[in-house]
Amino acid sequence: MNKKGFIFDLDGVIVDTAKYHYLAWKKIANEIGIDFQKEQNEHLKGVSRIESLKKILKWAEKEVSEKEFNTLLNKKNEDYLTYISKMNVSEILPDVNRILSYLIQKKQPIALGSASKNSRKILEKVQLTKKFDAIIDGNNVTKAKPNPEVFLKAAEQLNIAPKDCIVFEDSIAGIQAANKANMISIGIGDKKTLQEANYIFKDFTEISEDFINKLIYNNSL
Ligand code: BG6
Ligand code: MG
Repeated sequence: MNKKGFIFDLDGVIVDTAKYHYLAWKKIANEIGIDFQKEQNEHLKGVSRIESLKKILKWAEKEVSEKEFNTLLNKKNEDYLTYISKMNVSEILPDVNRILSYLIQKKQPIALGSASKNSRKILEKVQLTKKFDAIIDGNNVTKAKPNPEVFLKAAEQLNIAPKDCIVFEDSIAGIQAANKANMISIGIGDKKTLQEANYIFKDFTEISEDFINKLIYNNSL
């Protein structure tokens, strides 16, 4: 069948919100006396809000009450939302629109598969909501990446078998989730970090229409 399911992660793939997550987490971490580096942030990419805070506390060997845990989560999100509120179309990453338009032209089903609970807000801000046939995000799943739930649900909504789905991801956890879902994983970002992916590109400017055609028509890549 010449129809594939194209599933896009949001943060770090469609928009560079990874930098805002980093800034918001760093502020929280520093507030509770924890050092937080860019390298650690790499391990938070694709990871849910709750799991991210658990990781930060674990790295710092720090324990907090449930109440404080929730306060920290809310603070982080409030800070993050102030960054989001200023977003506009200029923050769409290079050539994302070219690839989305090409897929629409080729009548390929497109889904969002994101861990974020803020994904719809962000898509609205950058005016991309209408390009997606399905949106599965942190509000629709119970298991965080690297669990494949988010991508399997996206495939189900698109009505496409997982083996006929292609996932674009910038995070280690997301690539692992796509692989576990038995989908083709395409890493967007650093080759070394994303080495578990089936294919890796620095960004969408490196992805040709010829490559997309090969994915659609199952030609050898
Ligand atoms: C992922 C990000 O897309 O969403 C993570 O890569 C983030 O860094 C996660 O923690 C959850 O996002 P949110 O917006 O629900 O806090
Ligand atoms: Mg991401």
